[in-house]
Amino acid sequence: MQNRDDYQNSAAIYDFLFSRVLRNIHETIRTCLTYNKAKNVVDLCCGTGQQLRHLADQGMILTGVDLSQAMLYQARKKSPESIHYLETDAADTQLPAGRYDAVIITFALHEKPAAQHQAIFKEACKLLTPEGVILIADYCVPREELSSQIMSTIGFQSVERLAGIDHYHCYKDWMLNGAVEGFLDTHNPGKLSLVSEHYFGCVKLLTVSKIPKTLNMEAKP
Ligand SMILES: C[S@@+](CC[C@H](N)C(=O)[O-])C[C@H]1O[C@@H](n2cnc3c(N)ncnc32)[C@H](O)[C@@H]1O
Repeated sequence: MQNRDDYQNSAAIYDFLFSRVLRNIHETIRTCLTYNKAKNVVDLCCGTGQQLRHLADQGMILTGVDLSQAMLYQARKKSPESIHYLETDAADTQLPAGRYDAVIITFALHEKPAAQHQAIFKEACKLLTPEGVILIADYCVPREELSSQIMSTIGFQSVERLAGIDHYHCYKDWMLNGAVEGFLDTHNPGKLSLVSEHYFGCVKLLTVSKIPKTLNMEAKP
């Protein structure tokens, strides 16, 4: 869990910095959710609520969860009142289990220690309906080609370094452990599908569905 508000200094400029960069991912998630006819949707670690606002005209019931007061201040200020925001730990939301058609987790797992990102993913599994889907967008292992290597090492690594030393160490561990595929290969109890790749193959959007009722979240042997 965050002890202090790591986003206090960046919340006000977060959308200015990232809204264009993230637009394709937001749009792809919206397409997936409308295709799946998702009604009840929760975004864990929702930040400033950009993704939820991008879904606001779809007739969905939208909930955002985040720990940062500064990020939620921006989210509430910019969002219609129909979007609900909760200031709480995404690993223990107290939201009703088995009620959500979709759980979104974008650019959040890589910045946390392993125990925390596992706990957040476990909570996502718990919140889903049996037919529900988790959508995860996060860093993956870059491709061998030069554009992918440059984007990863010069681009994303620098952004993560600027976010602070703790954040950077978590990001490095995430990459060393196989990034999003490594995490899901070890912890995903359901069916994994690749939806799209972004930024020269440095980021993947994946879905996890068909999660068994007995949430076996232990790492595979
Ligand atoms: C890099 S931002 C990503 C925000 C948004 N998902 C996006 O794609 O733009 C990570 C967010 O995770 C939030 N966060 C970190 N740890 C959390 C936790 N344990 N519970 C809830 N939110 C958390 C931070 O406050 C921050 O808003």
